[in-house]
Amino acid sequence: MADTLLGSRIAGGNTAYSRSESDYYPTPPEATKALLDYLKLQDKSQIWEPACGEGHIAEVLLEYGHSLIATDLFYQGYGEGEIDFLNSPLRSCDWIITNPPFKLAEQFIRRCHEHNKPFALLLKSQYWHSKSRYSLFKDVQPTDILPLTWRPDFLFKTRGKGSPLMDCIWCVWRNNGDQNTIYYPLTKPIILRT
Ligand SMILES: C[S@@+](CC[C@H](N)C(=O)[O-])C[C@H]1O[C@@H](n2cnc3c(N)ncnc32)[C@H](O)[C@@H]1O
Repeated sequence: MADTLLGSRIAGGNTAYSRSESDYYPTPPEATKALLDYLKLQDKSQIWEPACGEGHIAEVLLEYGHSLIATDLFYQGYGEGEIDFLNSPLRSCDWIITNPPFKLAEQFIRRCHEHNKPFALLLKSQYWHSKSRYSLFKDVQPTDILPLTWRPDFLFKTRGKGSPLMDCIWCVWRNNGDQNTIYYPLTKPIILRT
């Protein structure tokens, strides 16, 4: 995607569809690598990226040797489009991993939980700092909360223009019956960009 289009999407400008419609923020690869380095999934796990955008998480999953199912409500040149995660059946997978649209985060959490598979979602750090989400936490308690010790630059494709303001966490639900939540900060993996 042209950098100007990406910048425009994030700024909420006119695009093929508006940012408010899609809540599109491509995840920089180091955020996904930090998660995968922590999770140490079995080789060749089958992972569903159900809000894949242009494939920024998906490509890292492939790089780590996993099998991929990539879908999105809006086709953005990657994976399968017109698949509403909130209303579509479970795909055959071992894990679900995505950076969901923020305004639908709770619905994504509940839908992943219904699918009864382990899952990991990238959320704003203050996600749980809300009275209205206390019942969600009690209903669907994460097994791991993993603060990123850096601010991911969602404008990384327009290098030099991003000045990240948002702190983020990966939240993991391992679906293993654990009653407690591990809190473990992730350090930033080194990525060489050309
Ligand atoms: C924050 S972006 C993340 C994109 C990609 N996962 C990444 O990390 O680079 C959120 C994505 O969710 C998609 N989306 C929005 N509503 C959706 C829905 N109901 N089902 C599936 N995807 C949806 C948007 O089109 C957008 O690509």
